[in-house]
Amino acid sequence: MDHEVFSGSLKKIPIYAHKNYLAPPFPSNAIVVDEMLRLADVKSGKDVVYDPACGDGRIPIRAVQEPFCAARAVGIDIDKELCKIAREKVKTSDLQDKVRIKNRDIFKCDLSEADVVTLYLSEPSNERIRPKLERELKKTARVVSHSFRMESWNPSKTSDINASLGNDKKYAYPRRIYLYRMDEI
Ligand SMILES: C[S@@+](CC[C@H](N)C(=O)[O-])C[C@H]1O[C@@H](n2cnc3c(N)ncnc32)[C@H](O)[C@@H]1O
Repeated sequence: MDHEVFSGSLKKIPIYAHKNYLAPPFPSNAIVVDEMLRLADVKSGKDVVYDPACGDGRIPIRAVQEPFCAARAVGIDIDKELCKIAREKVKTSDLQDKVRIKNRDIFKCDLSEADVVTLYLSEPSNERIRPKLERELKKTARVVSHSFRMESWNPSKTSDINASLGNDKKYAYPRRIYLYRMDEI
């Protein structure tokens, strides 16, 4: 097959057909985001927060804002359009010096500087990235996962919240958030 034609065809494959595609673009509701960051105990002015599948960037943006005030946050997403939206939100919030959005595949990014990693994927997808997290994360790092546990890890804590307490009725059902401390898994 002609290489040019083959490359062109590849571009037409939807992103969700990518072999490393881990979860569809369902956002975490604002109440859940705050509870994830609270449970992770983000250290103000010190911690670096990573959302390795960040969607529209709501978690990294929130992480550097009051009351969490992470030193920096990095959002990664395989979907170019979502990264564009996330970068616009970062710019509108005037947070370019604190939040970086990378249009990358999570499997091609180094997560070793993260103090906190936030996840909203699925149990099979958590299992796929588990070896990477175990290899790269510091012993002091924390992983918080919205709704989906990491099957072979022991959570240090869980938090059950009812997102219907907020205004966004679309996500009006209870959620569990899992906290994993890398030195306790
Ligand atoms: C359920 S959404 C979660 C978005 C955000 N973390 C939140 O909680 O609001 C999952 C995101 O994972 C992204 N994604 C899927 N596979 C990925 C991969 N291999 N690398 C980076 N991002 C990926 C999707 O594009 C989607 O935006």
